[in-house]
Amino acid sequence: MAILDILHYPDKRLRTVAKPVEKVDDTIRKLVDDMFETMYTAPGIGLAATQVDVHLQVIVIDVSEDKNQPLCLINPKIIDEEGSESCDEGCLSVPDIYETVRRSEKVTIKALDQNGDEYTLQADEMLAVCIQHEMDHLKGKLFVDYLSPLKFQRIKKRMLKALREESRQAVS
Ligand code: NI
Repeated sequence: MAILDILHYPDKRLRTVAKPVEKVDDTIRKLVDDMFETMYTAPGIGLAATQVDVHLQVIVIDVSEDKNQPLCLINPKIIDEEGSESCDEGCLSVPDIYETVRRSEKVTIKALDQNGDEYTLQADEMLAVCIQHEMDHLKGKLFVDYLSPLKFQRIKKRMLKALREESRQAVS
């Protein structure tokens, strides 16, 4: 397994729309394993392939406290959603920023697991939020897109400054 590099906002590659996986083969399973390792190491509760610059519809999630409930979503589709709730969200691609986002309270999804078998999952609470957040990544969308233009500009400025500092450190 390997730890993959996570793209940071405002990297334009985060805006790429992911393609469906045509066949769940060993290459995809290796990607899933690497994404789990990357997510657990970060640490985070979810990671979309888009964030590691692979533009396929693959997501890994584990919202459990003991990090023992890995969930792999390949080609996920929301088939039902209800209610709405606001929740504070963060993102491994937008470090140190936490903002409130409104999402559906419950979602039902259909997806493939790492064996290529289809399953249906009904999710609520943190898992529902996480699934919607990660599925947005596959569409090239980030949670900061939901914020007011003023808040969005402030965050963009902070992130650009952090990126400039990172690249200065890299050459010194
Ligand atoms: Ni994210």
